[in-house]
This record gives sequence, C-alpha cells and structure tokens, in this order.
Amino acid sequence: MKFLLDCIKHIYHDQTRISLHEPIMDQGEIDYVVKAIKSSYVSSTGEYIDKFEEEVSRYTGVKKAVATVNGTSALQASLVLSGVKAGDIVITQALTFVATCNVIKHLGAQPLFVDVSPVGLGLSVDALEEYLLEYAYLDGENCKHKITKQCIRAVVPMHTFGHPVDLDCLSLLCHKWNITIVEDAAESLGSFYKGQHTGTFGRFSALSFNGNKIITTGGGGMILCKHDEDGIHAKHITTTAKKPHAYEFIHDEAGFNFRMPNLNAALGCAQFKKLNHYLKSKREISEIYQQALINTEYQFVKEPDYAKSNYWLNAIICESKQSRNEVIESCLKADILVRPVWQPMHYLPMFKSALRGNLSLTEYLGSRLINLPSSPRIEVNCD
Ligand SMILES: Cc1ncc(COP(=O)(O)O)c(C=O)c1O
Repeated sequence: MKFLLDCIKHIYHDQTRISLHEPIMDQGEIDYVVKAIKSSYVSSTGEYIDKFEEEVSRYTGVKKAVATVNGTSALQASLVLSGVKAGDIVITQALTFVATCNVIKHLGAQPLFVDVSPVGLGLSVDALEEYLLEYAYLDGENCKHKITKQCIRAVVPMHTFGHPVDLDCLSLLCHKWNITIVEDAAESLGSFYKGQHTGTFGRFSALSFNGNKIITTGGGGMILCKHDEDGIHAKHITTTAKKPHAYEFIHDEAGFNFRMPNLNAALGCAQFKKLNHYLKSKREISEIYQQALINTEYQFVKEPDYAKSNYWLNAIICESKQSRNEVIESCLKADILVRPVWQPMHYLPMFKSALRGNLSLTEYLGSRLINLPSSPRIEVNCD
C-alpha cells in the first residue's frame, strides 16, 4: 500500500497535511467580498447574486439558475416545485449523502431505494426499471406502487463523485412511467453527459457550493430550471413568495427564506472564474491515480464512457473491508485525509424501514469504497 501513499504525496508535493478536498482562495475572492461589503449589499440582494446566477445558467445551459443558502435547500425546493407532496414516494439511490433523503422525509414523502450502477456508481437505470416492472403500475396519469398504492412522484438520481448517471436511458424510462426527474447534481458542476451538462435533464436540479465542492461560496446551492416560468417560480418560493409592491407585504404562497446572501455570491463569482482550471487540474490528478493503480488490488472508479466527469472526488474500491480499513488507517496516520463512502441510507435508523429493491452493489461498495484526496492543485492563473 506504500505506493498509494507515495502517489498521493507526489500529487500534492509532499504537503505535511493533505486534505480530502480544500478550496483555493486568493486575492480574487478577497477583492470581490470586500466590494460586496463596501456596497452594503451583504444580504439577500446585490449584484453578485444576479451575476453568479447568470454565469451558472449560461455555463450549464439552463434557462434560469436560482441561488440558495445550500444544496440541501435547493434540493428541497426542487422537490416542492416538482409537486412532491406528503405521502408520495420518491425513488433515489441508497448510496448517497444523507441530504438527498432527508429532504424527501422532511416533505412527508418517503424515499424508496434502488441500487447503483457499477458504471459511475450513480443510480442504476436497470435496477430502477426492474423495480418498476415488478412493483409499479400506471393509474391514469399517476405512477403508483402496487403494494402501498402511494404515488411514485419523482426519481432523484445523484451523480456520485461527479460521474454522470445514464441520463438518456433514465429520461426514457421516467417518461414511460410518468415520473419526474429531479437531479441531485450537488457533486457534478462541470460534469457532462454526452456533451450536455448534468442537472439539465430534470425539470429542476440542485447544485451545492459547500466548502468541499469543486467551487464554493462557503455554503450555498443553486436550483437549475429548464424553463423560464419555472425559474420565476423557483425564485419566488425561495424568497418568501413576496409579491412585488411598493410597501405592502403580500405573500401568495408558503415560501422559504432560502436565498443566498450577496457576500457568498461574491465568493461564488470569484471561484467560478477558476472552474475550468480546477476541472483541468482534477482530470490530471485522476489520470495520475488511474495510472498508479493499474494492476493493483485497488480498483479506480472511472468516468462512464458516455460522460466527461468533473472527478470531484477520486475513489477506489478495495478488495475487502479489512483492506479498506488498513488504507484509511495508514493514510490518517500519515496526515492524509481519505474517507470511507457514506453508510448506505437503509442502514441509518430513520430510513431502515424504507421500501427498497435489491441493494447488493450498494452494500458491497459501502464496506469497500474510499475517497482519495482530490483538491485541485494550487497553481491557478485564470486571467
Ligand atoms: C449528493 C449530495 N446531495 C446534497 C448535498 C447537500 O449540499 P449542501 O451541503 O450544500 O447542503 C451534498 C453535499 O454536501 C451532496 O454531496
């Protein structure tokens, strides 16, 4: 295993402490944040919010992007906007970060878990199809569960570590069963499926700009909206649903206060300028890992053939739980911050009784998958 530690140290030039993923901040971020402070627009309106939303919508190719306080709130609002209601079923993968499932539960809906694909480790379209064929039926416009009779309202695919799910096949299947797609694209800014940006296949999708993501606003998220009118509605409900009026407070539905402050959007604008550099750097790093791991006991997780991944987090699959633990312990001892994958969602107390398909690959990966240090390297020149 020494070669793996040597490889990580080589990538990060023998830094004494190597993080899993850390942001690079320099004078660009400082200048923008200072400008936001001096403008006195530090809160929910300001030029950086509009600029950041415009830049992300142009880059991803959606009609409108709406900045939010974090990725979790972007996902929650996306589900509400997609019509998910208490009592509905929302299908997602059991191998994901807990936020994907928490938002479903907080809406009074129930997550239903299907397995992930061996290609890219996101939601498996085959597993979803198998489940629907056995347990779903169409009742007029609604897809329903044969046993519980609940409406299966939405599917939330998550582009694991930045690797895109097979979105064409998923779109076809969901169209056939009349199920709405809401993409959890929290990890996949800069990842493309057959040339089209992830997060643009569902009617609504969510990005995250948490401190560990490819670009960060400190904390932040964004709703990607395929249609103009959805973008207007997304902005409305995430900003307390207040109707424009010279002085009256008129709110026409139960909205949220999910708006991203201008201070955070200032960081986002500065970070966004570096996105292409980060993508290039992360691809170089993933290639070094990939080469170093050929013919070893560790299997490197590659982007699917149909996609260009942002390689947000590099990952390896170990032969056993024991060898996984050995890698983690050796790395931590050397101040190299690797981490195991999240515990599969159906192992957690709040989702133990959730409906599910066969989750054998999720369970296999749950005890063998490790994320390796993946920060972009420091040399940045974006001007
Ligand atoms: C897959 C996934 N979904 C949702 C989130 C939630 O994003 P945030 O932390 O910005 O709320 C994250 C990241 O943290 C994530 O990785």
